[in-house]
Amino acid sequence: MKDEDAAFVPGAGFHWLTPLYDPLVALTCRDRAVKRSLVAAAAVRPGQRVLDLGCGTGTLALRVKEACPSADVSGLDADPRMLRAAAAKADRQGRNVAFARGLAQSLPYPDGGFDRVVSGLFFHHLAPDAKAAAFREAFRVLVSGGELHLADWGRPAGPLMRVLFLGIRLLDGFGNTAAHAAGRLPGLVAEAGFVGVRVRDRFSTVFGTLEVVSAVKPTGTQPSDPSLVSPAP
Ligand SMILES: C[S@@+](CC[C@H](N)C(=O)[O-])C[C@H]1O[C@@H](n2cnc3c(N)ncnc32)[C@H](O)[C@@H]1O
Repeated sequence: MKDEDAAFVPGAGFHWLTPLYDPLVALTCRDRAVKRSLVAAAAVRPGQRVLDLGCGTGTLALRVKEACPSADVSGLDADPRMLRAAAAKADRQGRNVAFARGLAQSLPYPDGGFDRVVSGLFFHHLAPDAKAAAFREAFRVLVSGGELHLADWGRPAGPLMRVLFLGIRLLDGFGNTAAHAAGRLPGLVAEAGFVGVRVRDRFSTVFGTLEVVSAVKPTGTQPSDPSLVSPAP
């Protein structure tokens, strides 16, 4: 295993699939609609600083930049191959996004450096401990009152979605996806200290149910309040 491959699950499950990542996700994960929902949820205002966690090929970061050109947008990912694709895409679009390599469990950014953390299809790549660490890091790098908006696999909406989700679980790991299958993602967000955690959108896809989850870093030192987590319908 090369150093480039250490310590993370690749975007499409296997590195050889990386060049096909964008078309695969567009075909199977309703990517346009999901990212439209995320960009609308984040409602980024001029001058705000935005981090796309696990940015992959940069699609979400670039959508945010398109929606709000004066925002200061960064994207972080563990995979240099994905980051090269992201940089090339940004070049083609003539958009300026600061892509960096790093692990979401130990972000190379100062406390309170961002107004928004956004993320698409990323957290299910992480083992339970790493997932908790990544949520704590997202919390740390947000300003008080800053917002987290993520889209990821949630509890499958019905037996068909549960069967379809087995494909993702096999590819990205049963341990990594257990909390998602059990509908515990919003609860994990709340455990990191976020409040106002809610599932604002759900999408049925050929690989299961995607959820858009939003949450706020409380102003001051309010403790997390799990009672704010909205139950799945
Ligand atoms: C399924 S892709 C999602 C890419 C993009 N956010 C999207 O919506 O298409 C998951 C990404 O997470 C990255 N990744 C996996 N583990 C990571 C970690 N611990 N820290 C940072 N990035 C990681 C992978 O390299 C991959 O690019």
